[in-house]
Amino acid sequence: MINLSINGTAHAIDADPEMPLLWALRDHIGLTGTKYGCGAALCGACTVHLDGEPVRSCQIQVRDAQDREVTTIEGVSGKVAKTVQEVWQKLDVVQCGFCQSGQIMSAIGLLSQIPKPTDSDIEKAMDGNVCRCATYLRIRAAVHQAAKELA
Ligand code: FES
Ligand code: FES
Repeated sequence: MINLSINGTAHAIDADPEMPLLWALRDHIGLTGTKYGCGAALCGACTVHLDGEPVRSCQIQVRDAQDREVTTIEGVSGKVAKTVQEVWQKLDVVQCGFCQSGQIMSAIGLLSQIPKPTDSDIEKAMDGNVCRCATYLRIRAAVHQAAKELA
């Protein structure tokens, strides 16, 4: 059995220890807000937080997520997360939406580390989050707006 703590809840799952965390989240636990894009650390759609840090859940084996706190888009909480989500809506960032839970998880991670990021900080932190709908300018504006509202 693999024991995981996800969004503050303990889950014991019967799975291969080398299975990607993303599979556990979506197929075993039913948290489908985290998306599968490439499975190869190339798109960022699968981004979750592991002990508060953004990681690609397609690249983390479930055994390595044990004894750590996993947070998904369904479980984010706190002032930074709330502000980011509100600003995302206010600025109408989303187009098809597929990449956006990953984008939001990365943006929360960035603003938790750097409260007033520059364009270059944003580019660096969000670089691995691909958006086929090219919402990049709205994402950058939303991160700046969230920073302003959190200040
Ligand atoms: S699905 Fe993990 S980075 Fe693309
Ligand atoms: S909003 Fe469509 S892929 Fe990003």
